[in-house]
Amino acid sequence: MIFSDVSGAFAQTSEQDAHLAIENPADLSKDEAQQHYKSLIRRMARGYAAAQLDLILNYQAWPLFNDAPYISATHGQRYVNSYANRMAHNYGTLQDGEVLPVGSVLAKDSMTVTDEGNVHPGALFVMEKLPSGSSPDTADWRYIMVMPDGSLFGDTMGDRAGAVAYCHVCHEAVADRDYTFYVPEEYRIPK
Ligand code: HEC
Repeated sequence: MIFSDVSGAFAQTSEQDAHLAIENPADLSKDEAQQHYKSLIRRMARGYAAAQLDLILNYQAWPLFNDAPYISATHGQRYVNSYANRMAHNYGTLQDGEVLPVGSVLAKDSMTVTDEGNVHPGALFVMEKLPSGSSPDTADWRYIMVMPDGSLFGDTMGDRAGAVAYCHVCHEAVADRDYTFYVPEEYRIPK
């Protein structure tokens, strides 16, 4: 199963990872998930900002593509949100074979909600479309994972690149859509 492969990848990358994939996510309604997200959103922004990455500055003001946080099995069973910057104007309408413009940034924040009711910020997952030829191994996508306290888990174009090499391996499954999966259907905001 693809999902257990992911936790396997997490398990190999660092000591912190016991906490990366949670085993008992709460089953929340869309409203409940929204409420939890609202209660955390400023703390999350402050935490990620400590990474001092210009490309994610203000990501919470970007267009949001889901109507409520949804569980992402492939990103540690967390509740996530999918934001895309203005440059990524065709993220929501991309057809097979089309690509996102250089400078597109996709940011997916996450929170943990366990069935015991513990709620806390999770990692921020980022993809940036680089100029052609910048990163041939990843089809010119840069992948970054920022921890909730702003520390860098890895950056394919910077520190600890090896820790996030597995990102593209999975995203290759959707090479036809320029390596983006988009939001699960039941959470999409109607266009
Ligand atoms: C095992 C597969 C898998 C791995 C590994 C994976 N992703 Fe994803 N990713 C997905 C899927 C599926 C989606 C869409 C559904 C969702 O949001 O969970 C997605 C969505 C995203 C998005 C929103 C853009 C899009 O594709 O629509 C970003 C940004 C992202 N992932 C970043 C990362 C980063 C950074 C890593 C590595 C730290 C990573 N991903 C690892 C499967 C994966």
